[in-house]
Amino acid sequence: MRELLDKLYETNALTKEEIIEVLRHLDEGENKKLLFDYAHRTRLAHYGPRVFMRGLVEFSNYCKQDCMYCGIRASNRNADRYRLTPEEILECCKEGYELDYRTFVLQSGEDYWYTEERLMEILHLIKSTYPDVAVTLSIGERSRATYEKLYAAGADRFLLRHETASRELYESLHPKMSFDNRMECLRILKEIGYQVGAGFMVGLPGQTLEHLAEDLDFLHRFQPDMIGIGPFIPHNDTPLKGSKGGRVEATLVMVAMARLLVPKANLPATTAMGSLDPQGRERAIKAGANVVMPNLSPTSVREKYALYENKICTGDEAAHCRNCIEMRIKVSGFDVDMGRGDSLNWTEPSVG
Ligand code: 5AD
Ligand code: FES
Repeated sequence: MRELLDKLYETNALTKEEIIEVLRHLDEGENKKLLFDYAHRTRLAHYGPRVFMRGLVEFSNYCKQDCMYCGIRASNRNADRYRLTPEEILECCKEGYELDYRTFVLQSGEDYWYTEERLMEILHLIKSTYPDVAVTLSIGERSRATYEKLYAAGADRFLLRHETASRELYESLHPKMSFDNRMECLRILKEIGYQVGAGFMVGLPGQTLEHLAEDLDFLHRFQPDMIGIGPFIPHNDTPLKGSKGGRVEATLVMVAMARLLVPKANLPATTAMGSLDPQGRERAIKAGANVVMPNLSPTSVREKYALYENKICTGDEAAHCRNCIEMRIKVSGFDVDMGRGDSLNWTEPSVG
């Protein structure tokens, strides 16, 4: 077991069977401590003590999909829906820019009210006002043609969590969605030239250690630029209300494993981690995470973007979160980096 951890640290590679072996024996002796230590050292080797800040704009909670776990699923009649106009989105970015953010993450449900044209308009608006920022989209599945046009319009990065790499589990949680299409979208995004983010939830109902090993093995094979990992937190207006939910400790293990299997990835300490444990984000940073994504959405809509219960920061102004997070990062012994924070896995496509 110690040999496997050493191999993981030295080569950043394990087979799926070896990953399972590691996960099975983490509770013995000092194994878990060693895993976190190796993850931390790997993060230091590539990114030093820096933590990148991304400003998150949750611009619409309309969604055509019906994911069993998600609070903004189409059939949740209790969700109070909203959409931000292009001008309102730009206003959030303005506030963020003045707080020194140089990356904005535009996230929404799968909302086709934002047509290709509208999304392009939003991207042009942001990029012409702030040419020095990186824009990340997190808007779900679209066609290859749309992904291409959005990239041409200035989108730099795209987050599309794979959610779970187990086809069976995926299909049980995503009515009418296709596992193959999800994976195809990720491949297309990478091919176009985006910095691509994948990721998954920990503690989904029916999820086993083998499923989690499949997620890690998928990440290792796909080598995404960004990896979002968070605990599943049940939402009361979903079919999974009352189920158990993920644990912070298990999620930290996945963050550390992801750091070691995809050493150069940008790995956020997710809001879900901070929502489950007041120290969750700090603990994730110490387990290998190097990104945080404080909220820039208008406070008037914050509570409405409720994917899960008890989400943090719903009442806090952007400036407050900016300071709060900075303090937390410093107290944990890390440094804030307000730069674009491009992935080290990705190299800018050459021009001309
Ligand atoms: N608990 C935790 N994470 C969730 N997400 C959606 N619903 C929940 C939930 N109930 C995650 C999904 C999605 C990301 C934006 O939020 O992984 O990709
Ligand atoms: Fe929002 Fe701490 S990050 S209040």
